[in-house]
Amino acid sequence: MKQYNIGFIGCGFAANLHAQAYKRVPGYHANLYAACSADARQTEEFVKRHGFEKACQTVEELLNDPLVDIVDIIVPPEAHIALVKQAMESGKHVVCEKPLNGYFGNGSDDKTLMYAKVSEELDDLKQFLSGRKEKLFYAENYIYAPSVVKIREMIEATGEKLLLLKGEEAHSGSHAPHAALWSMNGGGCLIRQGCHPLSAILYLKQAEAKKRCETITVTSVLCDASQVTGSLSQSERGSILSNPKDVEDWSETILTFSDGTKAIISSGDMIVGGVRNKVEAYTSNGCYEGKIAPNDAFMCYHTDASKLSGVYMTEKVETKAGWQYVFLCEEEMRGYVGELEDFLRCVDTGKEPESGFALAYDTMKVLYASYASAATNRRFFME
Ligand SMILES: NC(=O)c1ccc[n+]([C@@H]2O[C@H](COP(=O)([O-])OP(=O)(O)OC[C@H]3O[C@@H](n4cnc5c(N)ncnc54)[C@H](O)[C@@H]3O)[C@@H](O)[C@H]2O)c1
Repeated sequence: MKQYNIGFIGCGFAANLHAQAYKRVPGYHANLYAACSADARQTEEFVKRHGFEKACQTVEELLNDPLVDIVDIIVPPEAHIALVKQAMESGKHVVCEKPLNGYFGNGSDDKTLMYAKVSEELDDLKQFLSGRKEKLFYAENYIYAPSVVKIREMIEATGEKLLLLKGEEAHSGSHAPHAALWSMNGGGCLIRQGCHPLSAILYLKQAEAKKRCETITVTSVLCDASQVTGSLSQSERGSILSNPKDVEDWSETILTFSDGTKAIISSGDMIVGGVRNKVEAYTSNGCYEGKIAPNDAFMCYHTDASKLSGVYMTEKVETKAGWQYVFLCEEEMRGYVGELEDFLRCVDTGKEPESGFALAYDTMKVLYASYASAATNRRFFME
């Protein structure tokens, strides 16, 4: 079995998801080799928890280690692009978490200018990547969620046109203080959560285009992105964890494609009841409902939640009492294992990833076109 040494930059929440998923990748030995972060204590604890061979004190120490084959960048978005370039210049293949880049000023800044700046950075990166031997992988797990993979298979089998796609990611919000700030995230729930179903929908539309030998692009975007919990007092916020400062906690985006078909992306930081991740597709003969979470493969009912306090049910559910959608094989069902398997296969065989720079590029353009649309209360036409 081929072995690749993985170096993690970032040891926080999502790094744990990646570490668990690497251990389950079939066909390759993803060796959890080295890790570093901005917090030495967190790095030490993370390295011990997941059995990495070593903790590095700095990013440079990790990148200068010739034994590192693949660098996994799992840090807040503001640091992504600089680290991607630094890692690739050190000769490493790179996995980068979503969103690939962003505009990290104030939420009150001109959104059309944000779109221009994000587009410029993407075009710069495109040039940087051109002709490089190191590969860039975009860690969009939805592309590899078995339900999204199945929708793609059915589109390829039928060759039917996707008339309408709907995607949603929503939950009760992030309690992380940085999630409240545009300067740290480049936006609110739309960029943090809506990016997932958006990428899946853009990916499925490209699968349709390829099958039908058509060229399909996004021609315009119409979006509302707002703070809908703004009128609640602190005591009225109930189970909602988010506390947005200059970012949206709800968004709805309508995409129009060049073939006249549509997609709707919903995101929210104010929906209680656990994480809602789904992608739906509608054709002239079919309805496909990809329910990533919640899904009902295993349901449980219990009257005494306290007895189940140590049992994992699903992310962000507020209570364990009553009927529960218990998430089985979560790393597989959410796509993390398939994602990392694809990336290792790309390094091994030279194939292109299902989720790579082109998908990240289109996703980022649509996200900031959405912000520009919401700010101007008008449809935003893509160039
Ligand atoms: N795909 C998913 O399901 C998913 C879920 C959550 C987060 N994410 C993404 O993962 C990334 C990290 O989010 P998180 O929730 O794990 O954040 P986090 O705050 O839990 O962890 C961030 C980690 O990055 C480290 N870090 C920060 N700046 C750094 C720098 N300049 N150099 C080195 N290390 C640095 C921190 O020390 C910490 O270890 C974000 O891009 C986020 O969008 C993806």
